[in-house]
Amino acid sequence: MEQTFVMIKPDGVERGLIGEIIVRFQRKGFRIVDAKLMKVSKETAERHYFELKEKPFFGELVNFITSGPIFAMVLEGRNAVQNARLLIGATNPAVATAGTIRGDFATDLASNVIHGSDSDENAAREIDLFFQRQRDFAIYIS
Ligand code: TYD
Ligand code: MG
Repeated sequence: MEQTFVMIKPDGVERGLIGEIIVRFQRKGFRIVDAKLMKVSKETAERHYFELKEKPFFGELVNFITSGPIFAMVLEGRNAVQNARLLIGATNPAVATAGTIRGDFATDLASNVIHGSDSDENAAREIDLFFQRQRDFAIYIS
């Protein structure tokens, strides 16, 4: 069984969507391995999104992720990364299919309710980062 990292972003927490979203993953067959409500530091947000640091929206993205509590989860299931992203839907809610989390709950690209890891490698890195399982901080810094 694979694992993935999922984070309900500040907009999703603020809007009371935690329960609704957890139910969707559990119905799909995911097992919750770990979960917590937390505030993300600027440093953790920058590490989490390090691959996007040259993008024009990077500053805004970090500000958004640190703007309020998030709900972080480690989910386990078959093809966890791919199946979680299937439930999450397209990055831009304007084109996300109805029935997906972003398709059903979001309209704005910047505040699109939820994050899911995009590869097994990033899932392992993000789980380490958010659940204090860092083996070596240095490898995550640019
Ligand atoms: P990205 O990793 O490309 O998408 P995903 O979350 O689907 O893996 O981008 C990370 C987040 O950055 C995305 O969820 C929303 C935000 N974002 C913007 O604000 N503007 C943009 O143009 C893009 C591509 C993403
Ligand atoms: Mg991504």
